[in-house]
Amino acid sequence: MKTLHLKAMDETAVNEIEKAAEILKNGGLVAVPTETVYGLAASAFDETAVQNIFKAKGRPNDNPLIVHIAEFSELNSIVKEIPPVCKKCMDAFWPGPFTAVLPKKDIIPVSVSGGLNTVAVRMPANSVTREIIKKAGLPLAAPSANRSGSPSPSTADHVIDDLEGRIDAVVISGKCEVGVESTVVTFATNPPRLLRPGGITVEMLKQFIPDLVIDPAVTAEPEKDAEVASPGMKYKHYAPKAEVFMAQGSIKAFCKYCEEHKNDFDFALCYDEDEVDLKIPHTSLGANEDHQKQAELLFGFLRDIDDKGYKKVIVHAPLKEGVGLAVYNRLIRAAGFKVIDL
Ligand code: TXA
Ligand code: MG
Repeated sequence: MKTLHLKAMDETAVNEIEKAAEILKNGGLVAVPTETVYGLAASAFDETAVQNIFKAKGRPNDNPLIVHIAEFSELNSIVKEIPPVCKKCMDAFWPGPFTAVLPKKDIIPVSVSGGLNTVAVRMPANSVTREIIKKAGLPLAAPSANRSGSPSPSTADHVIDDLEGRIDAVVISGKCEVGVESTVVTFATNPPRLLRPGGITVEMLKQFIPDLVIDPAVTAEPEKDAEVASPGMKYKHYAPKAEVFMAQGSIKAFCKYCEEHKNDFDFALCYDEDEVDLKIPHTSLGANEDHQKQAELLFGFLRDIDDKGYKKVIVHAPLKEGVGLAVYNRLIRAAGFKVIDL
């Protein structure tokens, strides 16, 4: 299959938007930009097209997809009911990196929901993608547009590296400004539960959901055979081919450990404050407290690790506050939950 490259920097690229919408209406697969990461989209109502997403990504069938909408009116056809607390979050955070899990209507094929009776919905902030959804007149099921298991794509080049020749088209737009995937909250449980941290932080959510529960799998390895609320959390994720370890402790302890074990690691991922004393080759993800910058750079750096051929990498654990919690969540998975307590 030849992958069509459609360049659309903003919503004035009407021809490209029209072409992408046409492919989607005909059951094709199109990678689309969002403010978080690129998504691999197909009509959420088309069972065969949705199955083709799983094939192109090599994704396990029980890992459900997020349905992307452009207007609130589309919700009626997708979900059964919206609790008031969920509606408040939608009003506050949409369009944006917030995904709500709600009881689904039958029109959503089971392949979208991975066999569950709920569906995840979000309204992305990227205006090109919202125009594509409107032109197609369809909600779009879209997971991140990477090969399953590899870091999510925060640029169109990442998508092309992973999926060229496996999908019908890619809409090439700017960089994804958030850099990590959306915050996923399920409202199918009472109280609501955070399943995946992202650009909308726990602090922001708690303004509307004071009793929000943080699923333990956000920061730790789900126990074997434990029932996981979000199937995506049980898979090894975001993992470069290199063996990654996450070290948790102060700047001083991290630098000392790296010096003592300098023959064990060929590279370190750290923060600006670590760089002064760090004696092994490294890259900084930004300042300790600049969580937004860390999120923006994270997936590109995880891909670089493989491009450079590193075998063993040590990562300093980020602070678990604000968007830092999302960075922590992705890094501990990239490390396969191997944590060194300093
Ligand atoms: O920012 C994002 O969310 C990106 C862009 C493309 O929108 N999409 C994305 O999709 O990250 P994906 O498929 O890579 O991750 C979807 C996550 C998975 O962890 C999945 O298990 C969870 O959402 N999820 C989807 N439907 C669910 C459901 N019904 N119940 C619980 N978790 C669900
Ligand atoms: Mg993904």
